[in-house]
Amino acid sequence: MRTLTTTRLALPPWHPRFEEDLCRLSADPRVTRYLGDGRPWDRERAAARHGEFLAHWREHGFGWRAILLRDAADESAIGVAALNRLPRPVPGIDEPAIEIGWWVDPRHWGKGIATEAATAIRDEAFTDHRAARLVALYQPANHASGNIMRKIGMRHHDDITGPYDEDVRVYVLERANWSVMPR
Ligand SMILES: CC(C)(COP(=O)(O)OP(=O)(O)OC[C@H]1O[C@@H](n2cnc3c(N)ncnc32)[C@H](O)[C@@H]1OP(=O)(O)O)[C@@H](O)C(=O)NCCC(=O)NCCS
Repeated sequence: MRTLTTTRLALPPWHPRFEEDLCRLSADPRVTRYLGDGRPWDRERAAARHGEFLAHWREHGFGWRAILLRDAADESAIGVAALNRLPRPVPGIDEPAIEIGWWVDPRHWGKGIATEAATAIRDEAFTDHRAARLVALYQPANHASGNIMRKIGMRHHDDITGPYDEDVRVYVLERANWSVMPR
C-alpha cells in the first residue's frame, strides 16, 4: 500500500484519518452535484462510504486515495482519487473491470489537480494491478470530468442510465491503447 507522488501531490491509500475530510467534501453540493442522485451526503452516508473505502483496500489491495498537496502545512485531503471495482456491470464491458474517478475541493478547482491525480492512478492501475482496461462514468453535464477522461486517453464507449435514472456517459481505456501512449 504505497503512497503515489506526483509533482505537486501525494496520494496515500485511504486511511481512518481521512473520514472528516470525506464528510467535509461530500457535504458540499458543488462536489456531489453530478454524483448519483446529486444530493450532498449526510454524516451517516459519508461514514458508510468511508468504511467501504477501507474495506475495498483490505479486499483488493487497491482503492480510493486521498489527494494531498505536498507543500501544504497540514495533511488534510483536498480531494479523492479512486480506483475501484466497478460497482455494477456495464453493457459491453468484461468483468472484473476497474473504475477510475476523482473529486477535488472546489477551492482548488481549475489548477489541473484532478488531471494530475488521474494520470498517476491510471498508470498505477496498468502497472501495479495489471488492469485489462479502465472504465470511467460521468453525467453528461459534468464537462470538467469528461475533459479529464479524454485528456488521460479514455474513449467514449456508451451512454447508459444510472441507478438513479440519471444519464451516464461511459468512457474506457484499454490496456493496449494505454501501452502505446506517449508518457
Ligand atoms: C471534476 C473535477 C474533479 C475537476 O477538478 P479540477 O482539479 O478542477 O480539474 P482540472 O483542473 O484537472 O481540469 C480538468 C479539465 O476540465 C476543464 N474544466 C474545469 N471546469 C470546467 C467546467 N466547469 N466546464 C468545462 N470544463 C471545465 C479544465 O479546463 C480542464 O481541461 P483543460 O485542461 O482542457 O482546460 C472537479 O470539478 C470536481 O471535484 N467536481 C465534483 C466531483 C465530480 O463531479 N467528480 C467527477 C465525477 S464523474
